[in-house]
Amino acid sequence: MRHFLTLKDFTKEEILEMIDLAATIKAQTKKREYVPYLEHQTLGMIFEKSSTRTRVSFETGIYQLGGIGLFLSSNDIQLGRGEPMKDTARVISRMVDMVMIRTYSQKKLEEFAAYSKVPVINGLSDEYHPVQLMADYLTMREFGKDQNPVCAYVGDGNNMAHSWLMLAGKLGFELRIATPVGYECDESIVADALEAAKQSGAKITFMNDPKAAVTGADVVTTDTWVSMGQESEKEKRLAAFAGYMVDEAMMALAKEDAIFLHCLPAYRDYEVSEETFEKHAEEIFTEAENRLHAQKGVMVWLDRRREEQK
Ligand code: CP
Ligand code: NVA
Repeated sequence: MRHFLTLKDFTKEEILEMIDLAATIKAQTKKREYVPYLEHQTLGMIFEKSSTRTRVSFETGIYQLGGIGLFLSSNDIQLGRGEPMKDTARVISRMVDMVMIRTYSQKKLEEFAAYSKVPVINGLSDEYHPVQLMADYLTMREFGKDQNPVCAYVGDGNNMAHSWLMLAGKLGFELRIATPVGYECDESIVADALEAAKQSGAKITFMNDPKAAVTGADVVTTDTWVSMGQESEKEKRLAAFAGYMVDEAMMALAKEDAIFLHCLPAYRDYEVSEETFEKHAEEIFTEAENRLHAQKGVMVWLDRRREEQK
């Protein structure tokens, strides 16, 4: 059975199949054609961290597909009081048809999947945020930036940077990652992405100069400097990321028609200036909306693979 824990587990063709499915379902949704691809199915949604977009998009998405979502905050279920992940997996996966989890380490997610009877989707871990990248790529396609784009990620070498790495590695586009010294991407994830790049032809480069990264880029993106769980490091991080704000001076180095993406929530005048954010609001909020459609593509794709294996 297939899970959706990291883009590393998928081929280029599979990722594009999910994106195509998402685009089809988005077009249907826009016409208020709610095709019950997942009729009567239940999606369990376990959250160990806060969320606006992930919660609303998954819950609305499964409903639009004819199913229902169960919001399970770890503050409310026994997981938060110490019930093991593997027991939680064995209970919940006997009752629902699919599970989405937002948690800390990828290992916890893998443990859940190992014990689950149903497909598991990563709704963000410390290492990856793959559903976000599906929405980002759908947005790039809609804005005409999916044909050999040059993408620049400026900021923390975190879950978003890692997911950009895997997307570029799999699909074969150019990605430049600029991080401050000490905030680089995880070495093993970099190695995996470079391995994928050998096959896809992706050009992936790393630097400590954000200006060099964005020069001539088609897509510029960033993320918060202080991810969930890093609140105690806030002061140290704000100091380390000085010079990494994406602002109009930085965007002026990118192509004239470059788009700016941000997974949100955005912290104005830290990783992105208020002016740049508002100038690119249409792209950013289309990206947010595309969480809904991209994830419907992922859920329907996983369900189809499961059906084929029966
Ligand atoms: N981008 C994203 O995952 O947003 P939430 O944390 O609000 O779900
Ligand atoms: N890197 C951020 C992404 C939020 C969607 C975090 O993990 O908090």
